[in-house]
Amino acid sequence: MSTDNGLKVVDLWVKVENKEILKGVNIHVPKGELHVLMGPNGAGKSTLAMTLAGYPKYKIVNGDILLDGESIKDLPPEERARKGLAVLLQHPPELEGVRVVELLNKLIERYGSNTSPQELLQKVGLSPSMLYRYFNVGFSGGERKRLELARILAMKPKIVVMDEPDSGVDIESLKYIAKNIEDMIVNNIGVLVITHYRNILRYITPKRVHIMVDGKIVLSGGPELVERVEKEGYSGVVKRA
Ligand SMILES: Nc1ncnc2c1ncn2[C@@H]1O[C@H](COP(=O)(O)OP(=O)(O)OP(=O)(O)O)[C@@H](O)[C@H]1O
Ligand SMILES: [Mg+2]
Repeated sequence: MSTDNGLKVVDLWVKVENKEILKGVNIHVPKGELHVLMGPNGAGKSTLAMTLAGYPKYKIVNGDILLDGESIKDLPPEERARKGLAVLLQHPPELEGVRVVELLNKLIERYGSNTSPQELLQKVGLSPSMLYRYFNVGFSGGERKRLELARILAMKPKIVVMDEPDSGVDIESLKYIAKNIEDMIVNNIGVLVITHYRNILRYITPKRVHIMVDGKIVLSGGPELVERVEKEGYSGVVKRA
C-alpha cells in the first residue's frame, strides 16, 4: 500500500487569533481504516478538525495536509470537500431559511452522489418529515449529529473527520452513528473520530488510537489504549509512555 494513501497531517503548526494551538501534529489515516483521536479538553482536537475543514481563522504556520499525496492546505473548504475530505463539526450551525431537502439535494448534485435526501435520512434514522424543516433549526443534539452524518454521506468522501459525533446522543443515535462508520470503512473510506467516550467504541473497533495533549500527538497505539486512558487518565498514560 502506498504510504501516500489517505489523509496525512505532517508536522502541522496552527495559530488561532495569534495563539499557537497546534504544535507539530503528525497523523496518518489511510483509506479503509478507523482511527480515534482522544485527549483532554483544550488539547486542540477541534482546532485540528477546523483546520482540516479549512476555516480561515485557523492559520497554518508550518507543516502540510496531504490527501492521497496531494497538498490541500492552501485550498478553500469547498475544494477540499470536492477532493474528498469531509468534516463533521462538533457544533454544526443552524441554517435559517435553508430546508434540509434543499441542502441535501444541492450536495447530491454537486458531488454526483447516487442517492436521494429521503434515502440519506433513512440511513441515519431521521424521519422523512424532517426534510421540510430548516437545517438544524430546533433540532435536538442527537438529531443534529445524525443530520451532520447525512450531510457528509451526500458528499461521497474519501476521508471523514468526525468531531465528537457521539457527545450528547442517546443509545439509538450511537448505534446509527456506529453503523454508518462501519459502512464507511467497508466502502474504503478512512475515518478519524474525535471522542471522549468509549461508548461508541463498544460498537466499532479502531485500528489506531492517538492521544493529543497540548497541541501534539503524544502517544499512538492500538485499541487497548482506550482502556488504559479510562483506568489511568491522560496524565497516567502519557507519563508511563
Ligand atoms: N478563537 C480562539 N481564540 C483563542 N483561543 C482559542 C480559540 N479557539 C480555540 N482556542 C483555544 O485553543 C485550545 C484548543 O481548543 P480546542 O477546541 O481545539 O480543544 P479540544 O481538544 O477540541 O477540547 P474539547 O475536548 O473541550 O472539545 C483551547 O485552549 C481553546 O481555548
Ligand atoms: Mg473539541
